[in-house]
Amino acid sequence: MRISIEQACELLKQGQPVAIPTETVYGLAAPLNNLQAIDSIFQIKGRPKNNPLIIHLSEIESINDFIETPSSEIELLMHAFWPGPLTIVHEIVPNTVPEQVRSGLPTAAFRVPKHPLAQEVIRSIGPLVMPSANLSGRPSSTLPEHVERDFGDNFPVLDGGLCVTGLESTVIMEKEGLWYILREGAIPAEALANVLGNLPLSFIQRKDEAPLSPGQLYKHYSPKAKLILEGNPAEEEAIIGFSDRNYPLTGKFFSLGSSTNPQEAAQRLYSCLRELDDASIEKAWVDMNFPKINLWKTIADRLIRAASNI
Ligand code: TXA
Ligand code: MG
Repeated sequence: MRISIEQACELLKQGQPVAIPTETVYGLAAPLNNLQAIDSIFQIKGRPKNNPLIIHLSEIESINDFIETPSSEIELLMHAFWPGPLTIVHEIVPNTVPEQVRSGLPTAAFRVPKHPLAQEVIRSIGPLVMPSANLSGRPSSTLPEHVERDFGDNFPVLDGGLCVTGLESTVIMEKEGLWYILREGAIPAEALANVLGNLPLSFIQRKDEAPLSPGQLYKHYSPKAKLILEGNPAEEEAIIGFSDRNYPLTGKFFSLGSSTNPQEAAQRLYSCLRELDDASIEKAWVDMNFPKINLWKTIADRLIRAASNI
């Protein structure tokens, strides 16, 4: 159900979660200090309680309400990428973030979204927690229709049309002087390196250590269809590929756009995955023949996770 920005703010004030657009994907929003609304978010999504939520702020300076004086590198990152799709995980000042939001971790995740509607809602309500507005495990939502498909036609959605970026924020954290990417995302490692001077490291979770990035443990972005990421497309039912390439077409074709335009592929990716299910496709071959650098690396990460059953 499409709602106005006034209705979105009113429902949030009453403690009812609503979906709102961000530049990355649609978020399922609740006010940071409304524990009951936050509880509903976990329930609506079917999200495990030990997967923490990102806190969305309207101003860079609001970070000072939650953490001790930011380091000079964090200042650089915030000013380079906020507002925008970078999420910074940081140790918090005790009692500034409800435990449910952080799943009991001593850290919390922060970002300032760029979308004007998200900014307006946060300015009116205060900081919002927002996981992606999809059932846990499913592809994220980049259109209001996707939210309605997962949560039902009556679920309140603030319509911002298609999300321009189409992939979630990059989640990063500093540990013992080194920067780690906890989740690949819309800001590639190469862009972070331009600011930090070094490429951030990919975080590899050791089984015997407490998870630094709990979200990475779960099945993600998956359509019901089985995705084949290798070999040739001959026998498959459907193809996810590029509009400027020729394939031996045996079934339906789902286009990621031009093979030279990673922004377009990012924007179309979750729609393609969802369209497979709408068309009751059981098996699709995916053209993975693209360079695994910059934004393409995030696209590859999402497809590999979408294809995996863990
Ligand atoms: O682009 C985005 O980030 C979207 C839009 C709506 O802002 N949000 C989003 O939220 O993707 P979600 O909940 O789907 O993913 C949040 C990720 C999860 O992988 C979670 O584990 C991680 O951020 N995260 C949150 N708090 C964390 C913390 N304290 N430590 C480590 N990872 C954290
Ligand atoms: Mg998500």
